[in-house]
Amino acid sequence: MSQKTAPSRYTLTAALPYTNGPIHIGHLAGVYVPADICARYLRLKGHDVAFVCGSDEHGVAIPMKAKKEGVTPKEVIDKYHGIIKKSFSDFGISFDNYSRTSAEIHHKTASDFFKKLYEQGDFIEEVTEQLYDEEAQQFLADRFVVGTCPKCGYEEAYGDQCENCGSSLNATDLINPKSTLSGAVPTLKTTKHWFLPLDRYESFLKEWILVGHKNDWKPNVYGQCKSWIDDGLKPRAVTRDLDWGIPVPVKDAEGKVLYVWFDAPIGYISSTKEWAEREGKDWEPYWKDENTKLLHFIGKDNIVFHCIIFPSMLKAHGDFVLPENVPANEFLNLEGNKLSTSKNWAVWLHEYLVEFPDMQDVLRYALTANAPETKDNDFTWKDFQARNNNELVAIFGNFINRVVVLTQKYYDGVVPKPSALSEVDLQTLHQLKQFPEVLSNSLDRYRFREASQELMNLARLGNKYLADAEPWKLIKTDEERVKTIMFVALQIATGLAVLSEPFLPFTSNKLKNILRHAELVSASQWNTMAHQEVLLPSGHKINKSELLFRKIEDKEIEAQLEKLEATKKANEQMDKETTPQKDTITFDDFSKLDMRVGTIVEAEKMPKANKLLVLKVDTGLDTRTIVSGIAESFKPEDIIGKKVTVLVNLAPRKLRGVESEGMILMTENEEGRLVFVNPDEDGVHNGESIN
Ligand code: MF3
Ligand code: ZN
Repeated sequence: MSQKTAPSRYTLTAALPYTNGPIHIGHLAGVYVPADICARYLRLKGHDVAFVCGSDEHGVAIPMKAKKEGVTPKEVIDKYHGIIKKSFSDFGISFDNYSRTSAEIHHKTASDFFKKLYEQGDFIEEVTEQLYDEEAQQFLADRFVVGTCPKCGYEEAYGDQCENCGSSLNATDLINPKSTLSGAVPTLKTTKHWFLPLDRYESFLKEWILVGHKNDWKPNVYGQCKSWIDDGLKPRAVTRDLDWGIPVPVKDAEGKVLYVWFDAPIGYISSTKEWAEREGKDWEPYWKDENTKLLHFIGKDNIVFHCIIFPSMLKAHGDFVLPENVPANEFLNLEGNKLSTSKNWAVWLHEYLVEFPDMQDVLRYALTANAPETKDNDFTWKDFQARNNNELVAIFGNFINRVVVLTQKYYDGVVPKPSALSEVDLQTLHQLKQFPEVLSNSLDRYRFREASQELMNLARLGNKYLADAEPWKLIKTDEERVKTIMFVALQIATGLAVLSEPFLPFTSNKLKNILRHAELVSASQWNTMAHQEVLLPSGHKINKSELLFRKIEDKEIEAQLEKLEATKKANEQMDKETTPQKDTITFDDFSKLDMRVGTIVEAEKMPKANKLLVLKVDTGLDTRTIVSGIAESFKPEDIIGKKVTVLVNLAPRKLRGVESEGMILMTENEEGRLVFVNPDEDGVHNGESIN
């Protein structure tokens, strides 16, 4: 971002989320919260901002999910587009427009873009051999094929990208490819496609990124770009043999659609057009005026598409500006494990709001304070609780509450008139005025995490000022001095109301309401604060106190941890494959088994054997010895008297010198602990074999 104060035009984009599932804290932390902080900040500084996003509805995971659920792809995208759009608005992500790539305006914009490049001769049209699944009768690209990454050896790399090392791949690069549709080993079959020859853009990319942005792009972003360019760029297919997507708009292209990564970034342009149309504006300057600053907010897995492929497309097209910066974040983990939609290892935004209603700002703050800006980071519920209880409640909330309650109590809510300002007062007011600049310094360099800590430092300044001055004691002896103290404290409270807006928009709003900030003749703003003598004038009346934050109790955190624990167990259970059915037996075979109900009458540990118990079982026929490998699951004293199923005609065998005459039928519960066969017992699932 520019350090200049003159208003500029900014186009901010946030990665279009795939509509095959809801969104979780990883999306929020990596992309949408930083993008929103930036958008709000730029608007507060008086810039002209278009902040656009929308749903990415042509991803191949969408028809796959539809197939699995027996619904149409349209039903899938409609469902999740609605859920995602609502989550964004619930969390105060202040998009100027949230569109979707199934919109007509997008189909037209993307088709026209393709046609222009086609007509200019920017594509290579080529018949090549591509991976083909004979069983499913489909070409395999992108997520339809997995195999070993040729760069890092990761075995689950997709046909277009390795999620382990971030390399962008062609499906035919994969070692040992396998179809995700049928599991089949693909064959090769010829098909025609259009390729964007990235090699032709090499010198442009070198000049633009490696020379031009060496110092202002984040090292993680710059480093990835450099390694791709150094590796040598190859032509990339921008069309696919699929029936889900935007039809390739040229002759002889039946059954072919645009590659989702060709159409999706054009979605930023379509979304801007949709917004401009609605607002009666002209969209073109936001994409074509060379003074416009284009910023892409994305996660690290999207870097190649936004720094290499899309800019090459924009460059080929010729009418558009290139991104000024791509402040990509690393990944957020959850309690030590990778966030995963398919494994349900996530904190879903819509669920969070049910459990922590009206606490959007707390999550925004916790995610910003611990943002994965320079390395992968871990979200833990304990840290979330600590950020809330120790910072938002104990520092920010506590300060505001004291100021407002005391102003009501002493002055009926009217800002008092200060008398002579002490050295500390002057210094405190001086420090307050530095804060817009301090925050800007961090925000201009996309250091949102650092900025959030500076904001908290302003609350700390206020808290300390009050704690040192102790107006609640002084009120008995020096009323005049207390007026000055409260006046100073109220200035800080106003500063917090203004400066917290990008980070804590809901709180900022509440606080402005308490302070009746909007009613001031010259209400201070981010830009004016530093030069304003007084932010909240004497004689101005404020409202009653209102709780900004509440403490989060241990039991709320424990409930969240238990929920994750249950997810972990359910996943482990799923991972254990149900044993395949054994060969068919005859009824005669079955009737050879003699199973009886018995009662355990004695039980003791087999000496020097960890797993074995020696049981005496009353089978109704006799009382016999059975050695059973269940010592890790039961204490002997707990099973005496238990009724069990016994196979009584199993050939006797000696275990550690003790003859065992039969077998007790057991199965496993979801925790992997042995239980006696009683299908009704909690946690025993269908399909568990009895043996
Ligand atoms: N849907 C992609 C993802 O979730 C991001 C698309 S960004 C765009 O990884 F530029 F293509 F829009
Ligand atoms: Zn890899």
